[in-house]
Amino acid sequence: MPEQQVVLVCRHLLPAGLALLAEAGHEVREGGLEATAEELRELAPGCSAIVADPSVEVGPPLLDAAGAELRVVANFAVGYDNVDLDACRERDVVVTNTPGVLTNATAELALTLTMAAARRAGEAEADLRSGRWAGWDPGAYLGLELSEATVGVVGLGRIGSRYAELVRPLAGELLYSARSPKPEAERDLAAERVTFEQLLERSDVISLHAPASPETHHLIGAAELRAMQPHAVLVNTSRGSLVDSSALAAALAADEIGAAGLDVYEREPEVPPDLLAAPRCVLLPHIGSATRAARDGMATLAAANVVAALAGQEPPNPVI
Ligand code: GLV
Repeated sequence: MPEQQVVLVCRHLLPAGLALLAEAGHEVREGGLEATAEELRELAPGCSAIVADPSVEVGPPLLDAAGAELRVVANFAVGYDNVDLDACRERDVVVTNTPGVLTNATAELALTLTMAAARRAGEAEADLRSGRWAGWDPGAYLGLELSEATVGVVGLGRIGSRYAELVRPLAGELLYSARSPKPEAERDLAAERVTFEQLLERSDVISLHAPASPETHHLIGAAELRAMQPHAVLVNTSRGSLVDSSALAAALAADEIGAAGLDVYEREPEVPPDLLAAPRCVLLPHIGSATRAARDGMATLAAANVVAALAGQEPPNPVI
């Protein structure tokens, strides 16, 4: 019988993942949804694995609290900007993520936000619910028609590519900006690679699908918003840090862009008050991967990464 190893699940792991950990004989300590950073540090000593998610900062304080037993940090997400990779590398701790299983869910939510923002569904529903709807009005809630719209996709990785496929039948032109050319998207979807600046100027809809990094911090700020068309719809399902939210709120208030659909924010769960007050803005609470299939898949992958790493094998989804 191999020695029982302890897995710290910082918040909560769905049953599909817990079952795998139990099958491998691991003991689980769960922090729960309300766990503070301090409580996590108290639970960490002696654990061999940490299962984190985008709401948990994994840096030296938590890694050092876990101590020398720690072998793997399995992030329950495809993005891993919440994990200090250098600190993990220095401590010989493997980091994994959960790519693939949430691609459809997140791309579908980006399409949902595209349509909802373009047709001003958020404010229209809010008006109806609050009794402000006074009846059919030929000039009210006029939005952007997506048929034949030029759609610009920033970042054509897994999720960006799936979004491009989904939106292709609606779009007129499909533009993308990416570090390297994507011949398949050019061939199969007639996507045109353009510079980021050209994409801003030419697109009716812009959807962001790039990871959070120092290079993408405030990728969309006041200057970029000014470069967009006055009816443009901006969609962000990647990470909040890509968009300067104050600049976006100001651009919406000044009618400099048409609408926005956001699922992510810089300091979640805080939502900037000026965004809450901004017109033509659909705001969702980071639910990009919130389908049963995606979340079960993520739980299974996170646990499979832990089990493999603790068995001394190469985990299926190593980041480092
Ligand atoms: C969710 O935000 C993820 O990165 O998977």
